[in-house]
Amino acid sequence: MTPAQQSLEAETICRLAPVVPVLVIDDLAQAAPLAMALIAGGLPALEVTLRTPCALDAIRAMSQVPGGIVGAGTLLTPADVKAAKAAGAMFGVSPGATNRLIAACEDEGLPLLPGAATATEIMALLEKGYTVQKFFPAEQAGGAAYLRSIGSPIPQVKFCPTGGISLKIAPDYLSLKNILCVGGSWVAPKEAMANGDWAAITALAREASGLARSA
Ligand code: 3PG
Repeated sequence: MTPAQQSLEAETICRLAPVVPVLVIDDLAQAAPLAMALIAGGLPALEVTLRTPCALDAIRAMSQVPGGIVGAGTLLTPADVKAAKAAGAMFGVSPGATNRLIAACEDEGLPLLPGAATATEIMALLEKGYTVQKFFPAEQAGGAAYLRSIGSPIPQVKFCPTGGISLKIAPDYLSLKNILCVGGSWVAPKEAMANGDWAAITALAREASGLARSA
């Protein structure tokens, strides 16, 4: 899969909804009901971070839920890419981007949302053909103001910022022309997941899916 094809697929996924939930799943039993709750609230693209022992099994379980597009986050190595793909991930997300990681995603045919945080990193990915990128860690790396500034010299790159974004500040990002969607964990609070309060999560997803965007 070429970088251009990867970017096209990443853009399609990013355009599904204004928010991509970033999920840390500790208990496999939560995976399917969590996916159902978020999809019911209008958020079909789901990023499951590979940060917990059950993450790959969670991707497997969530991929069975109708209406969702489940991806793997926190991809760091080619082995992560292979495992994510084998588990059924439809896309990948990485905090940064290395040549080996990018090559693995291209070889495996896994659309990647590669992470960047500086103008040079953004340009390096653009040079390879990646026009859709994750901006991480968004709030800590300069926030919406930074992305507005980057949009001037590099308007051809579109972003999904993640890291420190909440319902309150998401509109600051989504009002920018170079932002396709934002990622965030606020739609799946740990407490609601532990309590099985799926209605609360659907309500949070509904709020998030109702956010307006400019891009
Ligand atoms: C992450 O990698 O954890 C994501 O960027 C989500 O960050 P958040 O928990 O601040 O939304």
